[in-house]
Parts: sequence; structure tokens; C-alpha cells
Amino acid sequence: MSVNAPVQIDRQRIRELIEREEKRLNDATPKSAETYKRAHHVLSGGVASSYQLRDPWPIYLERGAGPRVWDVDGNEYLDFHNGFGSMVQGHAHPVIGRAIQERYASGTHFAAPTEDAIVVAEDLQRRWGLARWRYTNSGSESTMDAIRIARAYTGRDTVMKIFGSYHGHHDTVMVSIGVEYDKIGDRDNLASLPYGAGIPQAVVDMTIAVPFNDADAMERRIERLAAEDRLPACVIMEAAMMNLGVVLPEPGYLEAVREITQRHEIVLIFDEVKTGLCIAAGGAVERFGVVPDMVTMAKSLGGGLPTGAIGGTEEVMEVVEDGSVYQVGTYNGNPLGMAAARASLTEVLTPEAYVHLDGLNDRILAGCTAVIEKYELPGYAVGVGSKGCVTFSPAKIVDYETFKENQDAELADLAWLFNMNRGIFMTPGREEEWTLSVTHTEESVDRYVAVFEEMAHDLTQ
Ligand SMILES: Cc1ncc(COP(=O)(O)O)c(C=O)c1O
Repeated sequence: MSVNAPVQIDRQRIRELIEREEKRLNDATPKSAETYKRAHHVLSGGVASSYQLRDPWPIYLERGAGPRVWDVDGNEYLDFHNGFGSMVQGHAHPVIGRAIQERYASGTHFAAPTEDAIVVAEDLQRRWGLARWRYTNSGSESTMDAIRIARAYTGRDTVMKIFGSYHGHHDTVMVSIGVEYDKIGDRDNLASLPYGAGIPQAVVDMTIAVPFNDADAMERRIERLAAEDRLPACVIMEAAMMNLGVVLPEPGYLEAVREITQRHEIVLIFDEVKTGLCIAAGGAVERFGVVPDMVTMAKSLGGGLPTGAIGGTEEVMEVVEDGSVYQVGTYNGNPLGMAAARASLTEVLTPEAYVHLDGLNDRILAGCTAVIEKYELPGYAVGVGSKGCVTFSPAKIVDYETFKENQDAELADLAWLFNMNRGIFMTPGREEEWTLSVTHTEESVDRYVAVFEEMAHDLTQ
């Protein structure tokens, strides 16, 4: 990956194009506008989750099939959002549909264990090489329970995370995520800041953030915490950051983190809620070859149903086995979710599926890179497995600080509008990446590249 020596893009031109594209999208989505009017009388902001908000109205969807989705106005899109990366299997996959139907006919919920939960855990154990598994219903539940297990195992309270990373919406991890550049604090002493209101300061203070891709900074902070008698219970991190576009680990970084955490007897948790089944059959652990003490999963695990999992070594998970940690939940291992996960793991996300995804991602990344070079845009294409993005930045992003320093929010906004107006469905957030599905084809990714080229042309003409 090389960062282009960019041409200066006329800021006025970007704004003109944003205005033109905004009008075009608003004109094409009158039913979404109407739906929003109705929705906001009953749903706060007219949506089910604040991550679905969009000004002036969200785009309400009606259905999906394979790589495509349709909104309430009947607009058809190729889906590169894929439910924040949950739908790597594509929409309405017939194999998963059949499994759900069969399970429904035999009863959907008992709050008692079923065989599918064992089969899914056997598969995850094989893929991740971790001995013991438990289920949850979301990524937030997975990270919340994993942190509790780590705290119980070590007898410590402090949690270390990567500055800028998102690990779900419970208090401990809603710290030092999206903050303004001037509030980050100095690199060796990054600030612990709540992400939104309602998070107790005492909890915020227990979470310490360090920069991604800097193992020395992590170790220095750990040593200072040790001196203050606040050694962390765990380091929770994504092996590749997936919420600033995609930020890959630099060579040697994950190995160094593994060594440091082992030496200080800190539980290393790879949060694989996004990387999970999306970047390799065995997620980041397989792709980068570093084995943590625990992993957390959700999103793509359930093939569209709300299912999460925690994997850990026998040693760490002993605190669950011996009953000292209550890892519980009425819907944990829900039979419907387990049936979908089983079908997905055993019949859809096969070794061939990953060959297909890797091939498509190579193609889309090469296509975007060629456009960037042809039009001398300030940015680069980066990705792994089914995930990728074009990062609009004149310099390589390696952590939150470089992201905040270089991010071109206007260009990212324009790219989203351009995509939506030309049948490419993407997340409304600026910092999200694409997720390909096994149902995407070469034509799908070529369409993405063609739309990107149209934007590059309009920007630079
Ligand atoms: C890395 C990571 N961890 C945890 C979560 C939380 O997952 P959920 O939204 O299912 O609670 C997310 C959600 O985007 C995530 O990206």
C-alpha cells in the first residue's frame, strides 16, 4: 500500500458536489422522508439505534436478497454495508433460511441447551484454537462478559483499550472513542473520556486508552499503572481497527502486544466482533497468527440473527466453569440463532467462501488503487478479507491521532452520497468500511469501482 502524492482538491468543488448529490438523494427517497415523519413520533430520532440516524432522514429498507437491498422507495442497491458487517453470508441465504425454518417448526426458545450450540462451539474451537466457548446475543454483551471474566481471573479492575476503538455500548468500553483532536491528550498519557452522557466518571477512570500500533507506549503505560498499583486486568483490542476505515497492524505489533501482556500476566482479548468470520475462517487469529487469551464475537456469527460468543483458554474460562463468574442470559445459545450459526459455519462460510472473498477484495482494492493513482487523489485503498475502504488522507493512518489529523470528512461524506445515488448501499458513518458477502460477484465490485471513478472524475475535472 502506498500513499499517493495528491493533487489539491478544490474544497469549493467538494461542497458543490455534496449539495448536488444531497438533493439527488433527497429527491429519490420521498417515501423514506414520509416514513421518517411517522417513525419519529414513536422512535427516538425515528430509528431503532442511534447508529441508524441520518440527516435529513434515514434511508428505510424493505428487503434484501443475496448482495442486494431495496429501500421503501423501491431503489435497488448493491449492499456493501451488510448490516455493519453482519451479513457476510449475503441476504436471505437459502441454506440459512432452511435451517431457521426447520428450527422454527421444532420450537425456537427453551433457555435450555441444544445440540446446535455444541456443534457451533466445536466449529469455533477448531477455527480459533481456543478451548472453551460461551454465547451471548450481541457484541456488547460479548465484550462486557469477557471483561468481567478477565477481571475475575486476575482480581484486578483496570481495563486497557486502544484509543478510538469501539467495543460496544456498555460503560467500561464507552471510553475514549470519538473525541476531538485537541482533547486526545499526550501520547504517553491519553485521556479517558466518556463517549456520550450517562457514563459514571468512576467507570471512565478505570479504563485507560493507549495508541494503536505502538507497543512501547502500551508497555510504558502498563508499567506506570503497575507502579500505581493499578495493573490492568485485560487489554481489549481489535487486531485490525475497523472503525477508522480499516487500520492494519504494523508488522510485529501484535506479537509485541502478546509478549507484553503475557509478561505482565494481563489477559489479552481480541475483539473479533467485526473481524470474526469476515477476514478469515478463523478471524484475526488465523489471519495474523497471534493467539490471544480470549476472543469476542457477534455480528456475522448469527447469519443475520442476534448471536454472540466468547472464546477463551481453559485456564481463563475456569472462572466461569467453577461458578465464580455468572456468564448468563435468557437468550444465550438461543436455538434459532444456533441453527443459523451452524448452517452458516458448516455450509456457507466454507474454505471456498474465503477464497472467493479474498479474490473479490483483491479486485476491488486494486480497482480503487488504480482510480486513486489515475486521478491523483489524496488517499489509499486498504483492506483484509471481506473488509476494506478508501481512506481519504494524504498520510497513512496508523492510529486515532493520525486519523484525526488527516481525515477528510467532507470527501468521505461525498463518497457516501455518490455511492447511494448510484446503487451502492453503504453505512452512513464516515469511518466505516465495506463488507463484501459471499454472494457478491466480480460485477458487484466492478460497479463499486466504476462509481468511485465517476466521483474522482467529477472532483478533478
Ligand atoms: C469491534 C466491535 N465490538 C463490539 C461491538 C458491539 O457490537 P453490538 O453492536 O452487537 O453490541 C461492535 C459494533 O459495532 C464492534 O464493531
